[in-house]
Amino acid sequence: MQLPAPLEAKFNELVKRYPRRRSALVPMLLFAQDQFGHISDALIGEIARRLDLNTLQVTETLVYYSMLRRKPAGKHHVQVCTNVACMLRGANRIYELVQRKLGIGHQQTTKDGMFSLEEVECIGACTGAPAMQINYDYYENLTPVKVDELIDDLDVGRRTEASPYTAGALHERHPAEVPVTSRRWGIQNSRTLEVYRKHEGYQALQKALRQMTPDQVIEEVKKSNLRGRGGAGFPAGVKWSFVPKDSPKPKYILCNADESEPGTCKDRPLMEFDPHQLIEGIVIAGRAVNAHLGYIYIRGEYRYVMDILDGAIAEAYTAGLLGKNILGSGFDFELYTHTGAGSYECGEESALMESLEGKRGYPRIRPPFPAVVGLYGCPTVINNVETLSSVPSIILKGGEWYANLGSPKNGGTRLFCVSGHVRRPGIYELPLGFNLKRMIEEVAGGIPNGKKLKAVIPGGSSCPLLSAEEADLPMDFDSLAKAGSMLGSGGVVVIDEDTCMVDLARRIMHFYAHESCGWCIPCREGTHWLRRMLDRFHDGGGRAEDIPLVGELAKNMLGRTFCPLGDAAALPTISIAKKWRREFEQHLKGRCPYKPAESLVGTL
Ligand SMILES: Cc1cc2nc3c(=O)[nH]c(=O)nc-3n(C[C@H](O)[C@H](O)[C@H](O)COP(=O)(O)O)c2cc1C
Repeated sequence: MQLPAPLEAKFNELVKRYPRRRSALVPMLLFAQDQFGHISDALIGEIARRLDLNTLQVTETLVYYSMLRRKPAGKHHVQVCTNVACMLRGANRIYELVQRKLGIGHQQTTKDGMFSLEEVECIGACTGAPAMQINYDYYENLTPVKVDELIDDLDVGRRTEASPYTAGALHERHPAEVPVTSRRWGIQNSRTLEVYRKHEGYQALQKALRQMTPDQVIEEVKKSNLRGRGGAGFPAGVKWSFVPKDSPKPKYILCNADESEPGTCKDRPLMEFDPHQLIEGIVIAGRAVNAHLGYIYIRGEYRYVMDILDGAIAEAYTAGLLGKNILGSGFDFELYTHTGAGSYECGEESALMESLEGKRGYPRIRPPFPAVVGLYGCPTVINNVETLSSVPSIILKGGEWYANLGSPKNGGTRLFCVSGHVRRPGIYELPLGFNLKRMIEEVAGGIPNGKKLKAVIPGGSSCPLLSAEEADLPMDFDSLAKAGSMLGSGGVVVIDEDTCMVDLARRIMHFYAHESCGWCIPCREGTHWLRRMLDRFHDGGGRAEDIPLVGELAKNMLGRTFCPLGDAAALPTISIAKKWRREFEQHLKGRCPYKPAESLVGTL
């Protein structure tokens, strides 16, 4: 099959990035789709031939990823997010409007081929909610009027500019903020090497390579009490120290930029505004564990962010900050981006590695843990974008300095993405241990329209919800665990008194049912049973005996799956069924007594 020259060049470059060719499969499929609009049989055959696979291997992989299509989409592929943060700010109304305006529904295309439509899961724009993507462009803070105009403009070829940057990230700093990883946001051209260098850029790498041994680097990170920002909060330095020093195998650094946890959208601006900080953190991690190759696994929807990262990586190579003999130290490190193609499960570390190996994102059984048996069966450190972006400051200013910014055993600051019913949704960098009530009321401006707080999702939709009475607590890993919830990935979703908690539970379960990879039966079946039961309840068909059953079913999923996605689906559901039981009872009388949310944008 003859390919257009740019795609041919891209394919040739992609296969060189990996020790095993199959790893190029998902990126090749996505880039091919970008060129041809969908993945035809001929393309499958061509890609299989190039990767020494059979067509079945390619097909079974591609059908796993929600962004990959076997049929053409419209010229403008409209993807409306209706996940929790967007839903709370009127996304369902936006979605209805788009359907009416285009005269099509989910996964349909207009007759003239101009538009296709999809209701999608969280796209990482929670603080700019309600939001949608058209092709790869983001449109945030939507109102019905804006959407109406946008579609008209696209229809007649009068293009409206997409949001130029992560809408929820750049705001006036609140005095309580302590900017560390976000300190260069808002500086002009912050993503360039020149500006990064003017603001202490690559000094930490210089220090790690010239003045410190790998063990000293690990010790410094241990001292900082930096805990993983991807969700589980495992101490980063301890994780690095698990990598066996005497292993003859190659070692890898993986940066988890899959950012798909609903409510979470902070890795996007970290990469968008300060890609060199992340690159520097990754190279330092490589130096600490003697790894010489790394990948940034980035969710497919973040295409423009990947382009920014690729640009920064190219700059770093040219300046001798990546590649052979970095800064004349004798240390070599190669770094590449790797695109996902639509799968929340691929953010789970073992599924991410499967995906990077060119397969379906199914989780692996553990132990062994990635630090010992990871990518291609070799020792691998996998850390979140924010975790790795914190490393340069720690090395430069010292672990103790960083630890002292936070609370005991919870070092430093973190980026809290405050979304939902607040006056000033945004990404705020606050010390760990900052009070949640203050975060909502003072930092994010409180709840609009004189409403009262009903509930908070404290760290992304996988966390048990807190009631208003429970929200007066320090936001650190240990305090949240003590309160029966989790700090998770920093996605703080604020919910006001008018919100229907059954509807919220229903929407959350739709997400997990959609994203369950299907590998483990309790998760695959449990999420769908619960989704159907919650739908029925919300639509007025609930039965009294279903109320305890919701909690029971969810409890039966806990701890019974290879990866924590089953727990992630169960935990918020259990908390809602227990704490807001009364709302389930209200639904027994008929249809939902609460009004669906309107767009809040421009009304505050
Ligand atoms: C279903 C599921 C999805 C996850 N998604 C992400 C993600 O998008 N980004 C991320 O950094 N961690 C995610 N994690 C956590 C990772 O498995 C892993 O703990 C993390 O990358 C480790 O990095 P850290 O120690 O720096 O947090 C997810 C976990 C699960 C169970």
